[in-house]
Amino acid sequence: MVSIFVKFVVGVTVFVAAFVVTTQALPSNCDRSYIVQPGDTCDSISAAQNVSTYQLATVNNLNAACANLYAGDQICLGITGQDCTTTYVVQSGDACGVIAANFGIPLSTLLANNPNVNSACTNIYSGEVLCTSSQIYVIQTTSISTTPYTVTTIVSTLLYTGTTTAPAMATP
Ligand SMILES: *[C@@H]1O[C@H](CO)[C@@H](O)[C@H](O)[C@H]1NC(C)=O
Repeated sequence: MVSIFVKFVVGVTVFVAAFVVTTQALPSNCDRSYIVQPGDTCDSISAAQNVSTYQLATVNNLNAACANLYAGDQICLGITGQDCTTTYVVQSGDACGVIAANFGIPLSTLLANNPNVNSACTNIYSGEVLCTSSQIYVIQTTSISTTPYTVTTIVSTLLYTGTTTAPAMATP
């Protein structure tokens, strides 16, 4: 009898733990969200929702194989201020220079908004979704040497002005 009860408690605990893991809260600064449907892939969501492959993966910590995306998950499509909604689905034979020209943007802007694309643009693939906006949405990572200075600045702001709003960390 006790053993059955223990099994029940353990079972419920495992179930609750699984539930908690798969229902992550959206970031408070989430611009738009989406509930994953059965059959969705990262790139199918990206194409349908106008969100770049890079942005979807970065905002939701999705792995390269998109293997940690589950139907029923509520995911964030973009963070406010970093949400690129002008996108293009790569077709077979596309080249970055041509894509950039078609959207009237510099190649450097295309590369800045899609850090997963290498500088020679040899790793794009059919079905990948690129941010093709003329505005740069991806926060440029600063060099490590500036970090101690930034931290010191935040601490002194907190000490001397009582400001409680710290700048968000740049996502790599
Ligand atoms: C995606 O962008 C296209 C082209 O601008 C637009 O027609 C479509 O409504 C957008 N879809 C969503 C879900 O925002």
